[in-house]
Amino acid sequence: MKSNLDKTSKERRSVQIDGVSIHLAHPDELPLRWIGQRELILQLHACWHLIDERDIALSPRLIGKPGVGKTTLAYGAAKELNKDVYIFQATMDTRPEDLLITPVVAENGKIQYVASSIVTAMITGAIAILDEGNRMSEKSWASLAPLLDTRRYIESIVAGVKVKAHPDFRIVATMNDDASTFEIPEYINSRLQPQIYLDFPELDEELAILRENLPFVDDKILTYVANFLSRCHLADEPYTVRDGINIARYVAKRLSYGPTDYRKLMYEAMVKVLGETALRYAD
Ligand SMILES: Nc1ncnc2c1ncn2[C@@H]1O[C@H](COP(=O)(O)OP(=O)(O)OP(=O)(O)O)[C@@H](O)[C@H]1O
Ligand SMILES: [Mg+2]
Repeated sequence: MKSNLDKTSKERRSVQIDGVSIHLAHPDELPLRWIGQRELILQLHACWHLIDERDIALSPRLIGKPGVGKTTLAYGAAKELNKDVYIFQATMDTRPEDLLITPVVAENGKIQYVASSIVTAMITGAIAILDEGNRMSEKSWASLAPLLDTRRYIESIVAGVKVKAHPDFRIVATMNDDASTFEIPEYINSRLQPQIYLDFPELDEELAILRENLPFVDDKILTYVANFLSRCHLADEPYTVRDGINIARYVAKRLSYGPTDYRKLMYEAMVKVLGETALRYAD
């Protein structure tokens, strides 16, 4: 459901909650489209789908190697539902109030309360992506516990308000499977279910992803890179499509200056992006 809030306004939007004025964030508009595995979109949509008025949405966790497409999947799935999407980028410095509501000093010297992207999504009935959630501390996670179970609310100590999630609010967290800064507490893990694993794409999918991201790059380069990545996946190397995009982009930029030894350039790009080991998988 769309909110009644004025979406065209560049001004900060605000709402009143328990007599406190809360300023809202703006949704993320990104040129991301998910290519390939429809099954993953379906799994995510199923988590968010309600089948009965007594039913509640699941808050899934997308897990995979860095650059495998977690953020793109979350964003693409949300956009396919024609919903506004709010991304919160978690870091090791994320504090509980950053996730909820932060006080800022306005021009008139008064305190203004600003809702995070997650709380804005809660208020407007949008979709929140808690990106790279495994980077933030247990203390920060704790502030989201009531949101992630049947209570579906958050409590901002700073603003002195309790915010209930709009019935249309949905959330998904993404996590790298190899770069946790902190251990995620078990009571949070049990709330972020089910887990959806992203694996490397098949060769034809990978080529389609490269074409989607680099439509202006010669297909010869993209095909070469897709084949290279597929050999890397077979050897269980952690190289992902993001690395492939960087390699292809660099080669295309270099070639734009004029013809050079194409293969030499490809090797150079592989070493620059992935290091010498990558040459093992060059043909
Ligand atoms: N299936 C896909 N469809 C379209 N683009 C994709 C797909 N998979 C990966 N990409 C592209 O690869 C790049 C990396 O994807 P993305 O940022 O979603 O990965 P990630 O898993 O979130 O990485 P990180 O763990 O570093 O946050 C992006 O440029 C994205 O557009
Ligand atoms: Mg990401």
